[in-house]
Amino acid sequence: MKTVRQSVQMLDFSRQFSTIEEEVMAAIEEVCRSQKFILGPQVTSFEAAASASCGAFFGIGCASGTDALWLAMAGAGVGSGDAVVTSPFSFFATASAILRCGARPIFADIDGLTFNLSSAAVTEAIEQAQLDSTATVKAVLPVHLYGQCAEWAGFTQVRERFGVALVEDAAQAFGAKWNNTPAGSLGDAAAFSFYPTKNLSAFGDAGLVTTSNAAIEDRAKLLRAHGMRQRYVHEEVGWNSRLDSIQAAVLEVKLRYVPAWSKARRDRAAAYNEMFLQAGLVADSAMDGVVLPFSDARAEHVFHQYVVRVPRRDALRAYLTEQKIGTEVYYPIPLHLQSSLAFLGYKAGDFPVAEKAAAEVLALPIYPELREDEQQAVVDAIAEFWKSGNAQAREASSY
Ligand SMILES: Cc1ncc(COP(=O)(O)O)c(C=O)c1O
Repeated sequence: MKTVRQSVQMLDFSRQFSTIEEEVMAAIEEVCRSQKFILGPQVTSFEAAASASCGAFFGIGCASGTDALWLAMAGAGVGSGDAVVTSPFSFFATASAILRCGARPIFADIDGLTFNLSSAAVTEAIEQAQLDSTATVKAVLPVHLYGQCAEWAGFTQVRERFGVALVEDAAQAFGAKWNNTPAGSLGDAAAFSFYPTKNLSAFGDAGLVTTSNAAIEDRAKLLRAHGMRQRYVHEEVGWNSRLDSIQAAVLEVKLRYVPAWSKARRDRAAAYNEMFLQAGLVADSAMDGVVLPFSDARAEHVFHQYVVRVPRRDALRAYLTEQKIGTEVYYPIPLHLQSSLAFLGYKAGDFPVAEKAAAEVLALPIYPELREDEQQAVVDAIAEFWKSGNAQAREASSY
């Protein structure tokens, strides 16, 4: 008999909204009454509060995380003819923002445990670029993927050795820390996304650059408003990437909840780990199974995503979809194999760790309001798939 199981959504926004509805609606009403919609007092106030919570002196609100990456890198001096080394295992904006600066992305492979850019691979890539002398590597852009900071000790050494700027793609990592230093104040500048699925999320698109460098702040602010310091005097060609006051007002309310939400995410990750162990599903040297997410002891992971590695990933995902259990794959095609980036000249096999990860990762539902019974339903469904898969494998081998 087929088990009838409850469905589990990948993310249910409405649960969070119901807990903060009154506060958020009051903040939005205040903006409506003030009629100051663009870069109003709420933007200034959110920029100050958010940057302070990241340990940075300055915050520059902007239209999206993609724009924040562009502004952070351009602010740090990345421009035409430069190169920026980054991860091939990230969202597309990580690479496209480098191109938006007029620079060229150079990819380096990731670490197989954390899925984050490897500082050793970055070192090799910079040495190679120096030998080729095709472009000056101006910056390195590590991504704090899934909410876990990249291994910053290694990147600090890269910065010292090669004199490059470090820009954090912290889009997925608001509230995360490395050795007690918050994401957003590890590098020369950082970019955050407040896309609605993020740990700190707006009611639309929004982003933030953080930095403690006054020159970077000045340039990023200038570029987000058409290079205009004095009205209708354009010092350089920027763009319109202003943050609007409604988004800032929503974000400032939610900012206060981030520590509690991060803890709730960590608790849910620990609960999944325990459930997988109890179910005997965790891979070890003797058995194929679920490889649980690796948390570096130096990092305070905020589990933007809870990502396992599994063999037969696509078959498992199809089964879970059938069982009405939401999952996602972040990201199925590494950036160096995206057709729009073919002109960079990379090919399959160039970054084997990233390519393997792209074939095996599976993100399971995780958010602060996710219930324990829902998590158990996810684990039970995976256990069921495994049992039937093992039975099929036994049958196949007995022919
Ligand atoms: C790693 C990473 N970088 C950049 C971005 C771009 O952010 P946004 O969607 O706000 O432009 C995202 C979010 O989608 C992301 O996950």
